[in-house]
Amino acid sequence: MLSKEDNIRFTEVEPGAALHSMAKRYWLPYLRAEALEANGKSRKVELLGETYISFRAADGTLGFLDEQCPHRGASLVLARSGDNALTCIFHGWKFDVSGKCVETPSEANPNFCKTVKVKTYPVREAGGVCWVYLGEGEPPVFPDYEYFKAPPEYRRARVGYCHSNWTQNLETLLDSSHIGLLHASGAATQAPNIKQAAGINTPKLSVVETPYGLQGYALRDRGDGTVSLRVTEFVAPFTVLNGATREEEGRLLYMVPINNRRAAFWRMEWDLNHTQDYWVEQAKAEGMEELFFEDPDDFLANVFDRTKENYDQDREAMAQGHWSGFKHLRAEDAAVSDSVPMVDRTKENLGASDLVIARMRQQFFRGLEAFENGGPALGLGPRGDGSGIPYADMRGTAELISSDTDPKDFHNRVLREERAAAREAFLAAMETK
Ligand code: FES
Ligand SMILES: [Fe+2]
Repeated sequence: MLSKEDNIRFTEVEPGAALHSMAKRYWLPYLRAEALEANGKSRKVELLGETYISFRAADGTLGFLDEQCPHRGASLVLARSGDNALTCIFHGWKFDVSGKCVETPSEANPNFCKTVKVKTYPVREAGGVCWVYLGEGEPPVFPDYEYFKAPPEYRRARVGYCHSNWTQNLETLLDSSHIGLLHASGAATQAPNIKQAAGINTPKLSVVETPYGLQGYALRDRGDGTVSLRVTEFVAPFTVLNGATREEEGRLLYMVPINNRRAAFWRMEWDLNHTQDYWVEQAKAEGMEELFFEDPDDFLANVFDRTKENYDQDREAMAQGHWSGFKHLRAEDAAVSDSVPMVDRTKENLGASDLVIARMRQQFFRGLEAFENGGPALGLGPRGDGSGIPYADMRGTAELISSDTDPKDFHNRVLREERAAAREAFLAAMETK
């Protein structure tokens, strides 16, 4: 449970909110690289309750500007593109990718344009995704997750839009106890990481705080000498790498606040052992191929019918034993998150199963307060720039271990060493190709 004031501090992101300036201190994903065509139309981007425009010049360079034309405020989403620039259709003022105004045809003085500038922001492209830094000063280091090392055919990036506050789906990602309940039916139960947790709904939870956020451990004793270990890595405040077995794709997830009631849910998946063709075949075999043919620029667009009160949940299937009435896992998580767009946390009752969420919130409030007092932004380490954070080796874990294995050593050392060796071998093999 949170007080009304704390719930506002935790959730609101728009200008004037406590979190607004700290949230600008991170590299944020904003569009898939393929969504911006060279010399194509500009795209409107909303982040933290403010609107921007991004476009790609003919030479491939990305531009990212404030949305409003600095003349009289028309949206530059309407601008003409071409010539490595955007030209506002209202009076023809023209801006290049660096934000420099290069023409103001409505002004007789040809030098007038030199006095005008539109604000631009540092951008970069990595892993098939465009990223922006909206904050003041130098951006933090760009995190070198293993995902970014995977060649295009070994990875995929998709984004879906949640019609709810950014904290809600984030808390779902940190919540290990819903797995065997919300996702009890349907094809998703075949996913190896879910299979091994099935039937045990009261995992033993613990939390380890880290310089970048926390690790949430969930242990399920299967009573046969094995334990299902699920470790979720949380890189505060927007990033999660949740449990995947060795045989599954790794998942780098971002929950980016668009405004107080919308969030972009980014899924970046990778596997250095298999190309994406393999994963399409696997999904077909499990009846989950829809997941591969959904719209990568909004994978939550059609998972259910938002115009219906219960999202067109299949009540008949539920009567016959299907737990949630939703076809697949993605719809289940999105439905519970979107069903109340802004949860009133003064009315909630947390239990032992919510330990990870409770600790994440405590850390959030401590971090935000420290930032307000001039300290580093939460999750970026003691120097506040992300240096020294072991992004490269980070991955969520879901494995069966024997009861006498130390779960922390297994996650933090055994699997990491294994992965680092596999990654090096993969990259060396790529180089000789
Ligand atoms: S409003 Fe854009 S040129 Fe006038
Ligand atoms: Fe879930």
